[in-house]
Amino acid sequence: MADPVRVGMVGMGTVGQGTVRVLSQNAAEITRRVGRELRLVHVCVRTPSRLENLGFAGRVSTDPWALVGDPELDVLVEVMGGTDLARELLLAAIAAGKHVVTANKALLAEHGEEIFAAAQRHGVMVAFEAAVAGAIPIIKAVREGLAGNRIHWVAGIINGTSNYILSQMFREGWSFAEALAKAQELGYAEADPSLDVDGGDAAHKITLMASIAFGIPVSFAHCHVEGIRQLQGVDVAFAAELGYRIKLLGVARRRSQGVELRVHPTLIPADHLLAHVEGPFNAILVDSDAAGQSLYYGRGAGGDPTASAIVADLVDVARTMTADPCHRVPHLAFQADALEPLPLLPISEIQCAYYLRIQAENRPGVLAQVATLLAEQGISIEALVQKEIPGAATVPIVLLLQQCREGDLDVALQRIQALRVVAEPILRLRVENLREEESFS
Ligand code: NDP
Ligand code: HSE
Repeated sequence: MADPVRVGMVGMGTVGQGTVRVLSQNAAEITRRVGRELRLVHVCVRTPSRLENLGFAGRVSTDPWALVGDPELDVLVEVMGGTDLARELLLAAIAAGKHVVTANKALLAEHGEEIFAAAQRHGVMVAFEAAVAGAIPIIKAVREGLAGNRIHWVAGIINGTSNYILSQMFREGWSFAEALAKAQELGYAEADPSLDVDGGDAAHKITLMASIAFGIPVSFAHCHVEGIRQLQGVDVAFAAELGYRIKLLGVARRRSQGVELRVHPTLIPADHLLAHVEGPFNAILVDSDAAGQSLYYGRGAGGDPTASAIVADLVDVARTMTADPCHRVPHLAFQADALEPLPLLPISEIQCAYYLRIQAENRPGVLAQVATLLAEQGISIEALVQKEIPGAATVPIVLLLQQCREGDLDVALQRIQALRVVAEPILRLRVENLREEESFS
């Protein structure tokens, strides 16, 4: 049998500990798959107690640079998080000829261009399956399994923490703070959980997905991001009445004018499979021309599920590290010199259907005024819910609008908001019906 592949790992938190467990518990199976041992020989740990009960017998450093400078290591696993030190470490490891495996979507979404270019120059791999959707092998599925397709769009529930919070709040009646605290305790949340609840984490992931789906450079700065903080139980109830569920969705869609890249709470049909994805689970729907739609579901967060993806990447690296670099799967699915900088559309240019909740005075003619202002922008109403609340001065008017250009809706909303009868800021949510686009068949 060939020599072991020598692995170093920086970070011994939720994902790091999971990786030690998976590598040791499944060592025999992994060796049978690779044909050589994956041996974790050197780890960097800031808090020594993190290693307790893991049975790790290799070298331990407290300085991450000790691993970058360790000539014995073939691969460096980065599960420390953050973007500054992690970027410097990865670039130095790559320059030293080490392959890299990382779960760090923030780092790759923000500095991916620099890191992938460096890896290309030095002939090493940067593997990042764990960075998107935890255990789900979505990078491999899109990059390799769908390589024969032109991908139309990708839409997914890709933040386990916010999906867990929405599930616990609206199904179990927990408060936002209770649900978030539990998600942190279970190891789902980021070190800074505002990345989860304000949409940044999902934006990092959908940015990476857009690159491998369409062959475009990594463009995080152009992603439109909205989180889940403003959602209220009343909107969940109205959405249900209209036949929808609300989920935080990442969407990357190719249009003739460019690419839509966005994360926001979204109404999706209640009878769609995605609507039934609960708790920390993730699911990604891919619409492509030959395959049609395909759906990928699984655990999107947590130590062992994420470790599953880290170890799969280690297996891939071990299998191809001796191959000529030009025979490996390209980092972003398309050859590095074939990436196309398609325009990223501003949110005003997207095409979508919408849900509106307008709190307005309860008097005749209000609805007609709203409908007129929408019609002036060419926007049609598909459904309407108006609840009479006895004795209330204002009532919610809930509208479902047909697909329109968001910039046109902005104009109508400004005018509706300016009506004296409209009492509060209007809530606008996007609606995705997730219908299949035209395929070959
Ligand atoms: P944790 O905060 O649980 O673990 C990070 C670990 O890195 C901690 O043990 C921390 O040390 C250590 N660390 C931080 N800075 C240093 C440093 N300078 N030197 C040495 N060690 C350091 O995070 P997670 O394990 O949850 O996440 C790690 C990465 O994986 C992140 O990039 C995250 O986005 C990503 N990820 C996480 C998932 C999850 O479900 N948790 C899923 C998918 C990806 P200390 O113990 O002292 O704080
Ligand atoms: N904080 C992330 C989530 C971890 O909740 O989905 C997985 O990337």
